[in-house]
Amino acid sequence: MAEDRDIVELLLEEHREFRELFEELEAAARDEREELFRYTVARLASHEAAEEAVVHRTVRDDVPSGQAVAEAVLAEEDSAEHLLAEMADMDPTSDEFMESLGRLRDDVVEHAGHEERDEFPLIREHVDAERRREMGRRFQQLRDSGPTRPHPGTPQQPETRAAAGPIVGAFDRARDAARNVFAD
Ligand SMILES: [Fe+2]
Ligand SMILES: [Fe+2]
Repeated sequence: MAEDRDIVELLLEEHREFRELFEELEAAARDEREELFRYTVARLASHEAAEEAVVHRTVRDDVPSGQAVAEAVLAEEDSAEHLLAEMADMDPTSDEFMESLGRLRDDVVEHAGHEERDEFPLIREHVDAERRREMGRRFQQLRDSGPTRPHPGTPQQPETRAAAGPIVGAFDRARDAARNVFAD
């Protein structure tokens, strides 16, 4: 069984992965873009749902002076979700899609930086190490039950597509999954 890890370490690691995924997406050949995009959306949705369930709520309710920062990052997650819903109707091989992808990358990178700068230090200061590991354990459970990474260049695998699912509703599905994993 995987060792329990500090939630902040896990989130920093995921943020690094998202920065890399967006780089890969922008460099991806047109015919590989859609599958990688679906995977990125599914991962992003479960990341944000898990943060919402175990991180932002803790910061908002249990951390002194945490309310404003938690509400600000929750609002950013909401606006990324709206942009993704718009992108669901676009042709992934179009210029319009690439422009929106650039905007999404900027928003996600800025949002992750905001959490790293303003929220994670509050968690390290006010949440003890044991609780941080407990939060990390729950986060890992959700991540490990998530979609499988596509393998560019190999024939499309139906199970990967099924796991990532349609874009619209990805955040709702991730929230439902988070509720199951995080239910006490
Ligand atoms: Fe977030
Ligand atoms: Fe995050």
